[in-house]
Amino acid sequence: MKIALITGITGQDGYYLSRFLLNENYIVHGIVRRSSNFNTQRIDNLISEYGPEKKLILHYADLTDSSSIHALVSKILPDEIYNLGAQSHVAVSFLNPGYTADVSISGTTALLESIKNSPKKIKFYQASSSEMFGGKENTLLDETSLLDPKSPYAAAKVFSHNLTKIYRDSYGIFGVNGILFNHESPLRGETFVTRKISRAVGRIKNNLQSKLTLGNIHAFRDWGFAGDYVKGMYMMMQHETPDDFVLSTGETHSVKEFSELAFAHVGLDWKEFVITDKRYERPNEVHHLLGNSEKAKKILKWEPETSFEKLVQIMVEADVKKAEQEKLLISEGLLSPTWEHPIGL
Ligand code: NAP
Ligand code: GDD
Repeated sequence: MKIALITGITGQDGYYLSRFLLNENYIVHGIVRRSSNFNTQRIDNLISEYGPEKKLILHYADLTDSSSIHALVSKILPDEIYNLGAQSHVAVSFLNPGYTADVSISGTTALLESIKNSPKKIKFYQASSSEMFGGKENTLLDETSLLDPKSPYAAAKVFSHNLTKIYRDSYGIFGVNGILFNHESPLRGETFVTRKISRAVGRIKNNLQSKLTLGNIHAFRDWGFAGDYVKGMYMMMQHETPDDFVLSTGETHSVKEFSELAFAHVGLDWKEFVITDKRYERPNEVHHLLGNSEKAKKILKWEPETSFEKLVQIMVEADVKKAEQEKLLISEGLLSPTWEHPIGL
């Protein structure tokens, strides 16, 4: 049985990737950072299914603490490491630039150093991002496109991306960069725009919320489904040579289009509910992202399987169900009826 170590296992991609690898008969180890609340909700169902057989094993560690990373890698000696851990919110990276950089930069460095010093040949996947391109209108972005980061988050990702290449070229480490365009799901964090919209649609439909406040609704993103993208991560790691690959759908849509479609799915007109406020705008915006994943299609035979329309439908339907449950809990006094993020994201 192959052994994988996943950083960021408690995040959106962490769930889909663990589920995929467990289905492929891997033993999966995951890093969980200390939190004052439980932070394993996304993977709780996997823990109950695979935990007792020791096929899914969790460890306390933190990407900002290199000693914890070195100790874990040398103890587990995995075949593959997937580095998904990050402070992944672009707007937050402007508010917490030092921490964002620390998680990405120290984390990747510690992992690559552990691999370099390990007696075992360990493959490494780095979660690179389309955000590194900075965005360009009417341009299909691929592995050869210029990196022009526009946020502390993207700048930190560029460092990790380049470091992975440097360790590959200098030490012959099997290190791959998956340059992934935005990918979403019902498990997407609630402060990313797609989930913020689908959640609001569910809550508005259930009379738990009256308005949705967004920032720049004219931004365009190449949105795919997270479940399709983790398969691409795995395929990159099974390819005979390490390389960098873009994963994208090749379609771009605006935040306004996403909203229109999401509200229409439950028979509502988005214009009656969506308002905009500058407080949700960023100091520097990536206006337009559109990817070209021909290389992954040709070499890995990877292609996205979920259309934009289907993605919106999956997310809205999941959040309508969630809002129905919330409504029940609120009526029983078991949940407070908040609707916006308390800090405002
Ligand atoms: P996510 O849901 O925000 O998950 C991030 C994960 O990193 C969580 O498990 C989080 O733990 C963990 N983490 C944060 N700080 C940490 C620290 N100091 N030490 C250890 N773990 C830490 O992100 P995602 O959407 O799954 O994305 C996965 C990766 O792909 C990220 O690196 C992201 O930057 C990158 N990426 C994402 C997309 C996308 O569209 N989703 C596109 C391109 C690249 P908690 O659960 O405790 O917060
Ligand atoms: N979050 C958020 N909230 N974004 C908004 C809002 C709002 O209220 N209103 C408009 N937007 C716009 C943002 O300005 C941005 O242009 C776009 O919606 C998408 O924002 P996010 O969903 O926060 O994602 P992101 O594109 O900034 O970053 C995500 O994708 C990257 C890959 O391109 C994250 O998952 C990153 O970790 C990932 O690397």
